[in-house]
Amino acid sequence: MNILITGKGGREHALARALADSPSHPTLYACPGSEGMRSLATPIPEVSTVEELIPWMKEHRIDLCVAGEEALLAKGLADACHEAGIPCFGPVQAAAQLESSKIFAKEFMTRHAVPTGGFDVVDTAEACRAAITSYPTVLKYNGLAAGKGVAVCPDAESAEAFIEMVFVQKQFGDDQVFVEEFLAGKEVSVICAISDDQFEYFTPARDYKRLKENDQGPNTGGMGAVASRQILPAELKDIIEQSIITPTVEGLQKDGLPYRGFLYFGIILTEEGPKVLEFNCRFGDPEAQAVLPLVEGDFAEYLFQAAKGDLHPGLIHFNEGWSITLVMASRDYPVTSTSGDGIRGLESVTSGRVYHAGTRPDGLGGFETNGGRILTVSHTGATREEARDAAYSELKKIEFNGAQIRRDIGTLHFE
Ligand code: GLY
Repeated sequence: MNILITGKGGREHALARALADSPSHPTLYACPGSEGMRSLATPIPEVSTVEELIPWMKEHRIDLCVAGEEALLAKGLADACHEAGIPCFGPVQAAAQLESSKIFAKEFMTRHAVPTGGFDVVDTAEACRAAITSYPTVLKYNGLAAGKGVAVCPDAESAEAFIEMVFVQKQFGDDQVFVEEFLAGKEVSVICAISDDQFEYFTPARDYKRLKENDQGPNTGGMGAVASRQILPAELKDIIEQSIITPTVEGLQKDGLPYRGFLYFGIILTEEGPKVLEFNCRFGDPEAQAVLPLVEGDFAEYLFQAAKGDLHPGLIHFNEGWSITLVMASRDYPVTSTSGDGIRGLESVTSGRVYHAGTRPDGLGGFETNGGRILTVSHTGATREEARDAAYSELKKIEFNGAQIRRDIGTLHFE
């Protein structure tokens, strides 16, 4: 089987590894992919648009397209694949609006009684200021913003900084902003594989979005994640399934939005019960780097069948233990990215997995930094402590100038 993965980061490297480990031994390509994943998936940086990809896939006899990142889905990747007769695990453009338009997602949740926080939609700086009635408040840019369009603002000063970025500098475009009710509680990332009216719950995870320990510092794309079946007690898992996942899957059917792909539910466990913070129409990053090492079985065949409308839960199973992934970011992340710092010690990592995100070859047979989040180190273990100790001990072997890590991944939010 020939599989094309779209994307180039740590999540896509983790998808490539899980697919490559499948007993059906697929041949993998990644668009654009990266040199860091070349041993698993041949990068094809020469094609980048949906229009270019379809003829490329036909020429290379691609049997399955697996969408890693969201950008091409929002541009109709899955629609074009279906037209070309190529199974795609990733939703069509109309359904991908669950991620690409927060207004669409909120209206969908309201229509299908999926619990979520209250909100106002504004399109000017003045209206935004007027809609904020208390702090903390949550401000969200409506369109895609590469993981940077959400700010939890504890005070007027931080709200002003977001307003300046969105309405004055227009860093993400010209879309509207949500002023949302702040929901207090522990967060959990639930990722489901959906194939029309069927779904399967993958191992739940918790990610760490702030740059610094104890959830301090600016928001990032994620500095680490923990995954385990044990994050959600069975009773809570059932509540989430009944109140959130089933109405969402049924809602997609009722609205005539065919969905085949991963759907990520960002959930907050409030005192009133679980509520949805956001949907993403793809696997989470860095959740994928924690969850996918726990998947056993024929993941490639599983996604191939699911992309054709048949979910076969028996093709895979989930390790009952724990998995932790730690992100190493470059010196000035998330303000800016840096490149050219040599990465030492990759060859000393003897267990666990290293997934490349922002690296490039250094011309000497190794890798150097090239981005914000550089790589992740993942490790599984029978217990949370075992997984965490092993992940940190492998991470210690890797060095580059200015590396930033968090030391409380897998500890904070579990005491
Ligand atoms: N970890 C959050 C995300 O993938 O958007």
